[in-house]
Amino acid sequence: MGKDPLFFNKVASSVLGALLLIIGGSILLDEMLSPHADHSDVYVPAEPLDEGASAGTALADQGLSSEALAAMLTVANPQNGPKVIKRCLACHTFDQGEAHRVGPNLYSILGDSIGAKDGFNYSAAIGDYASQEERWTPEILFRFLQKPRTVIKGTTMGFAGLKKPEDIADLIAHLNQDYSETPLDFSAP
Ligand code: HEC
Repeated sequence: MGKDPLFFNKVASSVLGALLLIIGGSILLDEMLSPHADHSDVYVPAEPLDEGASAGTALADQGLSSEALAAMLTVANPQNGPKVIKRCLACHTFDQGEAHRVGPNLYSILGDSIGAKDGFNYSAAIGDYASQEERWTPEILFRFLQKPRTVIKGTTMGFAGLKKPEDIADLIAHLNQDYSETPLDFSAP
């Protein structure tokens, strides 16, 4: 077996060929696997909020996050409040100094202590709840008005709850604007 004068060249070129194949192949593979499979930047429109009772109920069942709730309050319409508050008037008064009915007078309830209106005989359930949560924050009031007997088990408030989250937000905005001694700023971050 004589020495092949081109032996070195042959080895070198086959090594080079193999390298090119590996590099080329991996570039091709990258190309095939990369960003096209990633759909995270596809725009998915948010669920519209004002599609009536069914959309509202779906949201209620999902349970709104605190963030979603706060965002709803910044765009709530207090002008819709007087319509919604009719649901409460059988049992509650809202003007300052008015008498309690089946339920307590609710003047300035937002931000007020829970179960603390003078001269009203609350259930033990409200008392228990007041030992966990101090005040009627907009969020607690919202969740309570959505499902009173789920939030405060054993409450004597005989009311099933308001179905549409928008109505609850509008009512809270109305209470804040028109029946509060110290209105809160819902637009604050
Ligand atoms: C059928 C009568 C009835 C209706 C309708 C009703 N409530 Fe009540 N509400 C009560 C009673 C009774 C209580 C006291 C509950 C207890 O002691 O467990 C109460 C308590 C409350 C409290 C707690 C008050 C506090 O001092 O901590 C809030 C807030 C409230 N109601 C808001 C509302 C709103 C807003 C509506 C309308 C969307 C409404 N309620 C509809 C009877 C009613």
